[in-house]
Amino acid sequence: MDKFVIDGGLALKGQVAISGAKNSALPVLAACLLTDEPVVLHRIPRVVDIRTMQKLLAYMGAAVTEEGTNTVRVHAANISRPEAPYEIVKTMRASSLVLGPLAGRFGSAKVSMPGGCAIGARPINLHTAGLEQLGARILQSHGDIEASAPDGLRGATVHFDRITVTGTEDLMMAAVLARGETIVENAAREPEVVDLANLLTKMGARITGAGTSSIHIQGVEKLHGAEHEIIPDRIEAGTFVIAAAITRGDVLVTGCEPEHFQSLIVKLRQAGVEITEPEKSVLRVRAGAALRSIDATTEEHPGFATDLQAQYMALMTQAEGIAIVTERIFENRFMHAPELARMGASIRIEGRQAIVAGPRRLSGAHVMASDLRASASLVLAGLVASGETIVDRVYHMDRGYERMQEKLAGLGARIRREKSNA
Ligand code: EPZ
Repeated sequence: MDKFVIDGGLALKGQVAISGAKNSALPVLAACLLTDEPVVLHRIPRVVDIRTMQKLLAYMGAAVTEEGTNTVRVHAANISRPEAPYEIVKTMRASSLVLGPLAGRFGSAKVSMPGGCAIGARPINLHTAGLEQLGARILQSHGDIEASAPDGLRGATVHFDRITVTGTEDLMMAAVLARGETIVENAAREPEVVDLANLLTKMGARITGAGTSSIHIQGVEKLHGAEHEIIPDRIEAGTFVIAAAITRGDVLVTGCEPEHFQSLIVKLRQAGVEITEPEKSVLRVRAGAALRSIDATTEEHPGFATDLQAQYMALMTQAEGIAIVTERIFENRFMHAPELARMGASIRIEGRQAIVAGPRRLSGAHVMASDLRASASLVLAGLVASGETIVDRVYHMDRGYERMQEKLAGLGARIRREKSNA
């Protein structure tokens, strides 16, 4: 197991290029199951979760080939095992994204039921309820969910009780091959949903409304191969923007799509961070003056992303005043707060709210990452803390950030990776 050792206190300077979005690449890889022709995907981030999804596709019988650094070719002509086993699902919940495409193309799917995770219970009841409305029979036994629709799925109107990102994606993938029209109401509007719809459309699907809360899908007989480039990772981009701000640096974040994380940009500007867009897809981030505390509440897109909450909280420890950070998406996503407190932050948790009083001088400490974004927030804190910070369990980081350490080092951060006994 690896750890990061960070020697904090340096302002980040330079330029960093944003990778493809992990949370887009995952459903897009699952969508390759919908056709017996090859699909070629560019800008696939080389992170552990993506390798896990590739492993899952290969387990089912797809030919998965890595071509060049960030291109992957998937040919799902012979799917001999339309199932996601426990060994893979337990390491990555997003494995449940294969449920929809398998049910849609083969009328049969078996997916081990994901358990809870560090940030919340995260059930997939809305995915299965949606599939039932498309005519699938859902059986749950021995920890597995089986979906069967021997005569194929049929279109229906599905109204999600609450907004779910992967639920929307799963259902969209099931509906593209269903007979007739499917309408998904209260759909997620995340850019990753739009990216998936764009790929599916290239494959021959008929989808309108992706990016709004009402998606219409007209089922087609068959999908074909396609080539597609994944959108930039808005959470990685937001993390680097915050890294520049927290270290009072001057950084160009390139190859990003600012429209996808406007809610963060607006908050940071209110807090006193100078953010400009000198050219398309490039942000310049500077933070010289004192930062102000600004409240933030996580919401579904286009609201403030829960995947940036932990990193934002780290920044608020350095801002003047009290910031109330409210988490509305997941019930247990404040695990980074006590770790930040070990570094000197003043954070009080009251239910779904974290009350952050700043600014506090952080001092380097040995801290433990509990999930992907919590790890990022501890690294950010480490960059501004005095002395040495050790962030243990970096494998969380490796699941979703491509070459994080290398990219930070490229901006002048003193960060190294070492073996850990934790
Ligand atoms: C996606 O997870 C992302 N993962 C998460 O990214 C992200 O935090 C989350 O959306 C919210 O934006 C991927 O895209 C692979 P949800 P997802 O279904 O789809 C409840 C990261 O750090 N719910 O939108 O699993 C659920 O418990 C991660 O990259 C149900 O109750 O999230 C949660 O409270 C982690 N029943 C809320 O809805 C369901 O069937 C929203 O979850 C589904 C969800």
